[in-house]
Amino acid sequence: MSNSYVFYQGKIVKEEEVKISIRCKAFNYGLGCFEGIRAYWDEETNQLYAFRLREHYERLLQSCKALNINIPYTVEELCDWTLKLLRKNEFKTTVYIRPVAFKGSDHLFPTLYDDDNRILIYCHPMGNFAGKDAFRVCISSWRRISDNMIPARTKPTGGYLNSALASLEALQNGYDEAILLTDSGYVCEGPGENIFIYKNGKLITPPPSDNILEGITRDTVMTLAREELGMEVVQRSITRTELYSAEEAFFSGTAMEVTPIVEIDNRKVGDGKPGEVCKKIKEIFFNITTGKNPKYAHFCTPVY
Ligand SMILES: Cc1ncc(COP(=O)(O)O)c(C=O)c1O
Repeated sequence: MSNSYVFYQGKIVKEEEVKISIRCKAFNYGLGCFEGIRAYWDEETNQLYAFRLREHYERLLQSCKALNINIPYTVEELCDWTLKLLRKNEFKTTVYIRPVAFKGSDHLFPTLYDDDNRILIYCHPMGNFAGKDAFRVCISSWRRISDNMIPARTKPTGGYLNSALASLEALQNGYDEAILLTDSGYVCEGPGENIFIYKNGKLITPPPSDNILEGITRDTVMTLAREELGMEVVQRSITRTELYSAEEAFFSGTAMEVTPIVEIDNRKVGDGKPGEVCKKIKEIFFNITTGKNPKYAHFCTPVY
């Protein structure tokens, strides 16, 4: 993608023009935070829709605040630059947008007390990231980092080492993805996804106090389940064995979208096939991402 345009420090430039030092703190110590946003291409209307753009930049600025990364842009300005960037790249396909705010200094000391704050935004085309219609997962032997170690409400670049270790273990052992437990042993989330289970007519998902990232897709799924399916949604701690006895389980996330989990630790979830609730939510979800449902049109910002 080196011929693509990116946003860097207040300007849209060619990606190859961005030079970041090998000594940069973000590279050496992971002193940064990021977002993952999708813009969905709709063939029928010839339009690209940025999905819940505002909420993603609100979360980025909250992450920046927690990490003392002072970015001189408002949510509105960041949304605006993103739309300009998408237009400049003339995307006519579904795209993943990656803003990264970071400490750019070359100074050796790994501190966030530093005023070299930078932001870049790059994009790339992205279809079905999961690459599969359903996942076989395992419980990771790695525990999720807790909020008093690395703030769980942020998307900190350095914190993703924890995610990467869990994914590595899962893939090396022949699974598609991992589920991380909290330090207290409750179900937390996937390496880059929130988790839901369905049981006895209720959709259940771990609460923010269990160190999850408060996913924007998670929020969308909860809204759709309540509003469109009239379902009760409960945020409460989930134990490991509840996963084994769930009727359905699925992941939610910007990259992963809504992906059913059909096996956990070699035990079938329900009958081992994607569940009906998950299928319905997935269908409604994809219908709203391209502005088709006027009730949720406010989630979709047209790019062109
Ligand atoms: C650790 C983690 N949990 C959950 C999510 C899902 O969040 P969202 O739906 O906002 O993409 C992500 C992805 O951003 C993540 O990295």
